[in-house]
Amino acid sequence: MSVNQSRLLLPEPLGVLQISELTSGMGEKRKQQLYFSLVVPTYNEAANIQKLIGILSQTLDEVIPSGDYELIVVDDDSPDGTWKVAQSLMTEYPQLRVMRRQHERGLSSAVIRGWQVAKGEILGVIDGDLQHPPHVLLQLLHAIEQGADLAVASRHVEGGGVSSWSLQRRFLSRGAQLLGLIILPQVVGRVSDPMSGYFLVRRSAIANVTLHPIGYKILLEVMGRGRIKRIAEVGYVFCERQGGESKVTWKQYADYIRHLLRLRFSTGRMGKFSQEHSSFPVGRFIRFSLVGLSGVFVDMAVLYLLSDPTTLGLPLTRSKIIAGEVAIFNNFLWNDAWTFADVSLQQQQWHQRLKRFLKFNIICLAGLMLNVLVLNLVFNFVIHNRYIANLIAIASATIWNFWVNLKLSWRVTQVK
Ligand code: GDD
Ligand code: MN
Repeated sequence: MSVNQSRLLLPEPLGVLQISELTSGMGEKRKQQLYFSLVVPTYNEAANIQKLIGILSQTLDEVIPSGDYELIVVDDDSPDGTWKVAQSLMTEYPQLRVMRRQHERGLSSAVIRGWQVAKGEILGVIDGDLQHPPHVLLQLLHAIEQGADLAVASRHVEGGGVSSWSLQRRFLSRGAQLLGLIILPQVVGRVSDPMSGYFLVRRSAIANVTLHPIGYKILLEVMGRGRIKRIAEVGYVFCERQGGESKVTWKQYADYIRHLLRLRFSTGRMGKFSQEHSSFPVGRFIRFSLVGLSGVFVDMAVLYLLSDPTTLGLPLTRSKIIAGEVAIFNNFLWNDAWTFADVSLQQQQWHQRLKRFLKFNIICLAGLMLNVLVLNLVFNFVIHNRYIANLIAIASATIWNFWVNLKLSWRVTQVK
């Protein structure tokens, strides 16, 4: 094979994030299957990549004879030219393949794109900065050979740990894990280190599954959408970075929460519900509810200011109606600018906006009447606590308000 050929970059897959099965017997284009494919996602790892590839090759050559493995560096067009350094190593390490992505960015999608072009029955991912000790791969491979569908390197089992993480990073990592246990217990609860970015998975467990990751947590996506029955964990110590710096910012934490919610509403019981009611716009309802939540605070604050004996002490119903109206106005502004922005941006005229507000108000006033009715029923006959009764009343009015406003107020009325 000529030097040029041996340094050819991999084509960059685009489109659906889905890994195919290995098909044997494809005639002359038969895809050579491999035992193991390890993806190394990189962004500005020029200082680390040569040492890592050397150690990985030496480690795997010892246990996987005749080079039945491949290392796939997936670089997002790093400004420090990581992909070029990796490409220069290809002649020395025949198992090394390199992809330079120029149309997409992101750790999770980089890993999946690498797995899409991989030929291994076992797929893996390891960071490109030497923070994940390569020797742990041998135990992970052993776990897969013993029948696990997924083998995760974990900092939180026997033999695991982190070198010298700041208290803030430890707190953030554990906090993120706790949040995951609340939002997505059936996934996050399956492993001790759901934040791990170092694991192996059987191709058959994730083949033909469309993945929709956000941000860094590719493991969540694999566990959330894959056919993962048996999971093994291997302890490892998350090492100090030797060169370059972490790319983790607040955006990764925000992405993590969005990722949890997306998985929550597209897998498990909630997923089935939203699939069955796929016409139900879950994302819009979440935004409408968050706006409604801001309205709850406005409603409660005005109700307190007007009706509490320690403030103005006005009658409960009159206070409630004023509080409700102030909250309706607050909610309209937010819904028009955020929840239904895609629709309201097409109807920017003042008379259109006024029409929407009047419709919204009428629907919400009907919702307010429902709210007052439920408040009085619950307060007088069920729970004699005005604030809990008010919350129940608000929840019932929210569902009414969302559904009717969705159908009537924010509609794109095509003017023929
Ligand atoms: N291709 C690509 N694109 N690679 C990326 C990107 C990107 O947008 N962002 C980061 N990477 C690569 C880095 O070059 C590194 O090899 C690896 O992904 C991890 O990135 P870091 O920025 O070093 O993350 P970290 O060390 O703070 O956290 C890592 O380890 C944790 C524990 O396993 C990440 O893997 C976390 O997801 C993980 O929880
Ligand atoms: Mn790192």
